[in-house]
Amino acid sequence: MYLGIDLGTSGVKILIIDATQNVVAEATSPVESLAVQPPYSEQNPHSWLRAIEKAFEEIKARNPGIFGQVRGIGLSGHMHGAVLIDRHDAVLRPCIMWDDGRSHLECEELSEAAAFERIGGNLVMAGFTAPKLRWVEKNEPEIFDKIGKVLLPKDYVRLWLTGEYAAEMSDAAGTLWLDVEKREWSQTLLEATNLSADQMPRLYEGTEVTGTVRGELCDTWGFSPGTVVAGGAGDNAAAACGMGIVEDGAFLSLGTSGVVFAPTKAFLPNVERGVHAFCHAVPGVWHQMGVILAAASCLEWLARTMQTDVASALNQLPQTINGPSSVCFLPYLTGVRTPHNDPRARASFNGVTNRTQNADLVQAVLEGVGFALKDCFIALAEGKTEITEAYAVGGGSRSQEWLQIIANICGVSLMIPERGEYGAAFGAARLGMSAALEGYDAGIFSKPPVKQVVAPQADLASAYSDAHGEFQDLYRR
Ligand code: XUL
Repeated sequence: MYLGIDLGTSGVKILIIDATQNVVAEATSPVESLAVQPPYSEQNPHSWLRAIEKAFEEIKARNPGIFGQVRGIGLSGHMHGAVLIDRHDAVLRPCIMWDDGRSHLECEELSEAAAFERIGGNLVMAGFTAPKLRWVEKNEPEIFDKIGKVLLPKDYVRLWLTGEYAAEMSDAAGTLWLDVEKREWSQTLLEATNLSADQMPRLYEGTEVTGTVRGELCDTWGFSPGTVVAGGAGDNAAAACGMGIVEDGAFLSLGTSGVVFAPTKAFLPNVERGVHAFCHAVPGVWHQMGVILAAASCLEWLARTMQTDVASALNQLPQTINGPSSVCFLPYLTGVRTPHNDPRARASFNGVTNRTQNADLVQAVLEGVGFALKDCFIALAEGKTEITEAYAVGGGSRSQEWLQIIANICGVSLMIPERGEYGAAFGAARLGMSAALEGYDAGIFSKPPVKQVVAPQADLASAYSDAHGEFQDLYRR
């Protein structure tokens, strides 16, 4: 059996698959964010371990003895977070999370200071790890001086699980200290933030063994000594592994953030348009990603503000949507990465009149997210990745109406997978399986069967194309 742990922003998910990849056990446990004001976003790394223990307890109670049958474990986690530990592994401050926007000034400094864009292949964005460390150096120098290691969130979980300092390529690329093409830490980029290679964990591929479960945890939970822990992946690459998007294909995720993800056979940066050009979690593959910071969270925000829930908000939409809403919504509640790299951008409605109703606002929000995702598809296409079809995943993809709107706006067919488990925890378990079976085998990463394809409606293409132009113009203005 193989176990996947996905450390998500709002909770931990653990699942166990058997040798035929059937899910045999699973549990989730919530994680709280600390009460800090935006643009700050922090969590306590110890709370992640407590959440994992809680989920372990639940699995153990329902399936006594199951941990003893696990041969490999894979880890997935939210990316870019900075967990700072001292030389005795004590956590020095709360984790500065992926959606923390405090370091925009440091981004400007670093872009000028070193070849981040050339070597790292990415714009220096406020969510990424390197500018956060520059912020800590300037604002909390006593903490900066004590740093023994900088770990990504899931790699802190690994330290607890195995006692090893290890990272893997897909997540490491999102620190900005990686030479993404060569798949190794860049001395030059580390020095630009006054850090050294010995403050970084050792690098592995996501399918490689990074260590084995610590004896103490084997005693507590019943894992067999020698149970291997794979490199794993950042949450998006892990989700791609879960859906078999390792060498080809694409997915669009409508979660808190919105992501368009496609593997590439080579390192293909498109820095000008804010494309994330990272390593994939399997050897010899890279990927491109367009990321907007608010997607399903825009609809949640609107529903909350209208004092209703998401399902009731969606129910207000007209039966058939014959074209764009008269209201235009910029979905930048918490800034935007692709293509504008603008952490200070904010959301807005435009075109509201005294006839505008809630239904118009709901449609505008769904379309605004769709327009922002179209910008991501365009940015990837400019970076040589043309996408005509993509799996649709994430909480927002449960709305058929939303998928139809996005397909119409983006001109992309969206594939809804058959019911089942294909998420990041499943991808992590597959990576755990690869490591236990001693290496990468494309056969492990099959794609889910497609239940339904939501194709673009050709007769709406030109109206949505005009509306997208207005959307882009609104941001510029
Ligand atoms: C990707 C990103 C998010 C986080 C949170 O660059 O920041 O997708 O990984 O899930």
